[in-house]
Parts: sequence; C-alpha cells; structure tokens
Amino acid sequence: MKNTVSTFLAAKQNGKKLTMLTAYDYSTAKLISSAGINSILVGDSLGNVILGYEDTVSVTMEDMIHHSKAVSRGSSDSLVVVDMPFMSYQASVYDAVVNAGRLMKEGRAGAVKLEGGKSVCPQIKAIVDSGIPVMAHLGLTPQSVNVFGGYKVQGKTEQAAKQLIEDALAVQQAGAFSVVLECVPSELAKLVTELLAIPTIGIGAGNDCDGQVLVNQDMLGMFNDYVPKFVKQFANVGEIMTNAFKAYDTEVKNGAYPEEKHGYQIDSSIIDHLRNTYSRKDLI
Ligand code: KIV
Repeated sequence: MKNTVSTFLAAKQNGKKLTMLTAYDYSTAKLISSAGINSILVGDSLGNVILGYEDTVSVTMEDMIHHSKAVSRGSSDSLVVVDMPFMSYQASVYDAVVNAGRLMKEGRAGAVKLEGGKSVCPQIKAIVDSGIPVMAHLGLTPQSVNVFGGYKVQGKTEQAAKQLIEDALAVQQAGAFSVVLECVPSELAKLVTELLAIPTIGIGAGNDCDGQVLVNQDMLGMFNDYVPKFVKQFANVGEIMTNAFKAYDTEVKNGAYPEEKHGYQIDSSIIDHLRNTYSRKDLI
C-alpha cells in the first residue's frame, strides 16, 4: 500500500514503528521500496556518500532535484522525502516555498525535509500552507556543522535538552508531519517522542523513537570513510562488491570472461565474405 503522510500519523496513533532509508538512484529506490520500507529519504547526505564532499554544505538544489527524480521513478509505495539543501530555505520564507515547490514539481517528491527548530518555523508553516508536507530535523543538523564545530551529540545539558523539546513542539505547531531526531541521548528522544503527536524518526537517538532512518550505504557496509557509533551494518555489501570487482578484473585479464554464451551470433558466411574482402595488409 502507498505510504503517505497519513501512514505516518496512523503509525504514531497505533504504536507501529516506521522505517526510512536513504536512496539517491532509481535501482536502489526500487529495492528499498519493494522491501516494504515506509519512506525513502533523498538525503543531502548524497553530498558525502555519492559526491564525495566532506560535508553537506555544497549540495545544490540541482543535485537534489536530479536525484529526487530518479528515486521517485523507482519508488512504488514508499513516501519519498527530499532534503532541502543548505541555503535553499534559511534566508527567507520566499526562498523556502519556491525551492520546496521545485522539489515537488521537478523532483516529484512526496514531502520535503529541512533542518532546524523555532528559527525555521515561519518557513515550515509557509511550505505546509502551500500544500507541501514537511518533515523537520532536530538534534545534530549536519548543515550547521560549522556552528557545532564538528559532528557531536546534541541536547546533553539541561538547557540544550530544553531547547530541543521546545524546538520539537514548535515544528509540530508549525505543521511538520514528522521530525527526525539525530544524535540525541536516547532518554531525551524518548521524552520528545512521548510529548509529540507527530512521529519521531531517530538516527542515533535510541529505540524509543516512532521510527528509524539510516543512510543505506552505512547500513549496507558500503561506506567506510566514517562509521558513526549508531550504525549497524546489516550486510557487508562493500566486501561483496570489492570481491566482484576483483573477480571481473581477473577474468577479463585472463580471458575467462566473456564466454561464448555472453556474445551475439552472426551467420558465418557473412564473416567469411568479409574476411575475403578485407585483409589487414590491404588496409596499411
Ligand atoms: O541527509 C540525510 O541522509 C539525513 C539523515 C541522516 C537523516 O538527513
């Protein structure tokens, strides 16, 4: 069944856990969707895992639209949520609405996600009022890495925890249908989850959130530049891929691949005729 914003709210009401994984391309989106995952996030983490940047700051609207188009073509039943990249919504409410609209119209997103609490509530409200569902993102918000001075657990002091709770209540009030909690202490995430009527989606936020999200390359063991503590590698696809690449390299170089069955046939009389017509000597 097609997942929508209503699926998220119903899951919260019925105490059913939600699943979300990132994808940036058509084939992966197809696999994730066919596995029954509720939602696919076209995360701006594509800056790290696809484009090789060291942070998400350089990711553009064009990058997000390009990958969103591919994922939305591949996703059958998962709700496709697309990240609004750095500086596509922070500067003004106008920018936020126009860029969220582009992700929906050009990228065929089902919803957008943006980072921040009270300070971006005017943007959240305006986007929702335009008919676009918004997922909020609190805690460690990677677009603000330069303010945090690195990727650190958030909400550990009483004041920071209070701020997080107030931001969560504010984004809900502004109309967000769900909120990602990234890298916050598990007990704090539990409290926020109890306080909100909208579902919390945790990443590094313990087991009491209403759902979980992971970067697919992290959970598949395909990206080892940096593996955060909260990641569980559910498979070692990176090793499987490396072994396959090595086998291909060996077989091409030793002549084992391609075999006859991998080729296409032509009538041998045509080749004989061509051999008689052309000879290397004549061509020199
Ligand atoms: O960009 C992303 O992949 C994200 C998740 C880590 C939540 O925002």
